Amino acid sequence: MQTSFQPQETFMRRAFELAALGRGYVSPNPMVGCVIVYQDRIIGEGFHHQYGEAHAEVNAINSVLTPNATVAVLCRQTGLKPEDLLRQSTLYVSLEPCAHYGKTPPCAKKIIETGIPRVVVSCGDPNPEVNGKGIQMLREAGVEVHEHFLEQEGMETFRRFFTHVTKNRPYVILKWAQSSDGYLSRSQGKPCLITGKSLQVLNHAYRVEEDAIMVGTGTILADNPRLNARMFRGKQPLRVSTDLHGKILKYIHTYLTENGLPDKPSPELAGKLPLRFFDRTQRTLLFVDGTRFDEYRFLADWPGLGNESLKIVPVKVTTAWPEMAAAYLRGLQKERIGSLIVEGGAALLQSFIVGDHWDEIRVFISDKDLGGGYAAPRIPPSKPYSFAQYGSEWVHVYRNKASDRLI
Ligand SMILES: NC(=O)c1ccc[n+]([C@@H]2O[C@H](COP(=O)([O-])OP(=O)(O)OC[C@H]3O[C@@H](n4cnc5c(N)ncnc54)[C@H](OP(=O)(O)O)[C@@H]3O)[C@@H](O)[C@H]2O)c1
Repeated sequence: MQTSFQPQETFMRRAFELAALGRGYVSPNPMVGCVIVYQDRIIGEGFHHQYGEAHAEVNAINSVLTPNATVAVLCRQTGLKPEDLLRQSTLYVSLEPCAHYGKTPPCAKKIIETGIPRVVVSCGDPNPEVNGKGIQMLREAGVEVHEHFLEQEGMETFRRFFTHVTKNRPYVILKWAQSSDGYLSRSQGKPCLITGKSLQVLNHAYRVEEDAIMVGTGTILADNPRLNARMFRGKQPLRVSTDLHGKILKYIHTYLTENGLPDKPSPELAGKLPLRFFDRTQRTLLFVDGTRFDEYRFLADWPGLGNESLKIVPVKVTTAWPEMAAAYLRGLQKERIGSLIVEGGAALLQSFIVGDHWDEIRVFISDKDLGGGYAAPRIPPSKPYSFAQYGSEWVHVYRNKASDRLI
């Protein structure tokens, strides 16, 4: 039964703020925030902290029952118990409460058992196991439900999750740094840093927000990148690359031969592979030509500087680069990767653009010229979605309108 109750934007916006605190830790689950309001006062808050752990609604309910300081004062003033306050409160949640037993019991059931009489929801959950069932379960139990509240705003926190569920692939961000005259790097010579310290820190902050980071074979061999987040605290992404034509394999064998090292892994060879990509300090995945899969087994057995896993994933090689980009996304979806940053080089980036396998492009633009080298990828004609200036450098962000429509 619907009453004359009017939901308040402030409370749902607080739920969005809370949801964002889970960024980088909950994927491929959604970032969800929840607040519980008793007589226009927030008495409980919660968000989904970590993949596999309690959902936002349960954390918010528990924060009332614990109870927190606000609840303790209210209980003293009113003579009510925390359970009584919940039975007279409104729960605001950014995503429809789940209705199924996954890693945790259904949140809709928990809300019903707690006796919360009213729920305000921003976005429906497209996951086929939920998709309206959470709302239905609440309504059938007599809970008053208000849906689609600040839905567009709410959607911002669910871009990754909705892409993962509805398009069956990770959310894809293409990122590169270019000189003011449009080059990614010099064609020859040492790798060069294109942008200054602020944008490097920003780049590392971006890395901890996503599940995986990918570069092409050319970049692995030219730059020997670490692909980690060392300038910003947070979860390290899975690092990903490819070796479809055995160039990395050949480079490693040549290095081992030239340095008189055997190519049979043994404990004393820990960390002796020439490329940082294989140092096992971070979870790593390499796509290789399926017909040559066995040639790569020794890499997976090679001890590194750390103990993180190295997974070799076979793919069917075609000469159509955009199709290969789609194959990587299928492979990463199987690994439960909810979001991916592709950081170069030009060839790999362009294949994602040509295949339209992207959701966002972030271009870091330096104030210096390179005067030649590898040209930056060509962006489909569109206006940037946003600009930001960092000293004399810029970040332009583009959004894929076609992919936005499908979310
Ligand atoms: N400024 C920046 O932001 C930035 C970032 C990264 C790199 N860079 C620079 O870019 C240069 C390397 O660029 P690059 O274009 O030569 O290298 P890249 O894009 O890193 O690698 C290209 C190679 O990756 C393999 N590949 C596998 N799947 C692919 C796909 N779907 N599409 C395209 N290639 C695919 C191919 O090698 P196989 O034939 O062996 O399969 C291809 O030749 C370096 O100088 C590096 O410093 C700059």
